Amino acid sequence: MTPLVAITHLCKSFPGVRALHNARLEIVAGEVHALMGENGAGKSTLMKILAGVYQKDSGEICIDGQPVEIASPRAAQALGIGIIHQELNLMGHLSVAQNIFIGREPLGRMGLFIDTDKMARDTAAIFERLHLSLEPHTLVSDLTVARQQMVEIAKALSFDSRVLIMDEPTAALNNAEIDDLFRIIGQLKRHGVGIVYISHKMDELKRISDRVTVMRDGQYIGTVPTATTSMDTIIGMMVGRALLEDERPPQAGQGGEALLEVRGLNRGRSIKNVSFTVRRGEILGFAGLMGAGRTEVARAVFGADKKDSGEIWVKGRRVEVGSPADAVEHGIGYLSEDRKHFGLATGMDVQTNIVMTSLRRFLSFGFLLKPAAIQGAAAKLIAQLGIRTPSALQKVALLSGGNQQKIVIAKWLVRDCDILFFDEPTRGIDVGAKSEIYKLLNALAAQGRAIVMISSELPEVLRLSHRIVVMCEGRVTGELSARDATQEKIMQLATRREAPAAASGAVAAAAF
Ligand SMILES: Nc1ncnc2c1ncn2[C@@H]1O[C@H](COP(=O)(O)OP(=O)(O)OP(=O)(O)O)[C@@H](O)[C@H]1O
Ligand SMILES: [Mg+2]
Repeated sequence: MTPLVAITHLCKSFPGVRALHNARLEIVAGEVHALMGENGAGKSTLMKILAGVYQKDSGEICIDGQPVEIASPRAAQALGIGIIHQELNLMGHLSVAQNIFIGREPLGRMGLFIDTDKMARDTAAIFERLHLSLEPHTLVSDLTVARQQMVEIAKALSFDSRVLIMDEPTAALNNAEIDDLFRIIGQLKRHGVGIVYISHKMDELKRISDRVTVMRDGQYIGTVPTATTSMDTIIGMMVGRALLEDERPPQAGQGGEALLEVRGLNRGRSIKNVSFTVRRGEILGFAGLMGAGRTEVARAVFGADKKDSGEIWVKGRRVEVGSPADAVEHGIGYLSEDRKHFGLATGMDVQTNIVMTSLRRFLSFGFLLKPAAIQGAAAKLIAQLGIRTPSALQKVALLSGGNQQKIVIAKWLVRDCDILFFDEPTRGIDVGAKSEIYKLLNALAAQGRAIVMISSELPEVLRLSHRIVVMCEGRVTGELSARDATQEKIMQLATRREAPAAASGAVAAAAF
């Protein structure tokens, strides 16, 4: 059978970076083909070339056995290639329908005006096909990230794509939304669409993919059938070395000084009477389903959102935190889950981004910058976190997605915060770098800092935390020690809703 797409000997360099070297990929109709590799391995670049975003230096791309040149995104669309990028590309100020038909809006009878009704009808038809409940007239900026993702998919499908590329489509989706996406992928498969699926979540690959192609350092390593290949084999192909599993955390922290104590925190309907303590040397895990209120708690403690009530105590002293600046002043740092919006000046270089928020540390006499100190600090963190960049002066926008995330982590590490909130610290980060980040969190705790780690990946929470707080619908529903915690116990607590007694009492009272 002739493959839908056959890419061979593909090479691509950027100034100072050899992104692809003899890359290869074959996609057949009706398969989900996972593309795997560490951060910076070249996955997105290869897919952007297939989608006409970048031009190859050399190599061949065949569609249905015929060599093609893909000069632009439009040319790719004409060939039936759709892509959902790692970074969402929608216009927030336009409606869902306008986004889907941007640049090819259907015209009305006179050929002069855009036929908005037809556009809305066509959009609704696509949503119906996908069983999505989305309103064509909604502004994209009013949608959650997950729904925006669905709009991107609908857009790619509106071109009748025969090949659909999904670059980390589930990074920001919760479990129900992932199920939805997988349902849609199953449907597309049955229609013979060839799907390229890029993800760092190993469990998803087992669920969704038929074959896996692994890349490393821009090169083709191999293609294997998912069903008969072990995860260890695939990870081995990706990293080219054995990963050191470090053991469960030592029972540290118990006797340590309470660095942060939060008492009776409330905010609207998202945080209800939350209290917890983190001690010096401790990693406190925050588990719960998406939307349980964990990020909200971190933001309120950090002063990014205003709390309605509650006390924050740092090292036994009550403090007022009215803004993130206050929080940092008291030694509280927050590594946001939405790194793209809160973390980086992507137009600036790596080094500047790393030191930007802690410039005060790099001044002599209070006003002269010490360039050598800045370079030294940046170089150390680049090495420590394995940030893959041709130099410390590379623009952040040009780094791969996972490497951008590591820079946000680096930023917080140069600041001397004793209390650090990490919100989904390994989202979008490859397996090798994940274990680096785990080591780093352990090291920070061992240095005597207090770490709060919010994570939706239970194995990660179990592996790192000394203690685990579980939340559901804005409340703390339980606390587990590392010794007692299991996935099942956490899930039970994470789905334990408040007994309805109080609510029905209120209704009864109102009725009288
Ligand atoms: N426009 C560009 N200019 C310069 N270098 C680039 C550009 N795009 C990508 N690179 C570099 O090419 C290499 C491959 O990046 P790519 O984005 O393809 O990685 P990736 O496998 O998608 O990684 P991730 O898992 O982190 O998303 C990286 O070293 C990256 O910094
Ligand atoms: Mg990428």
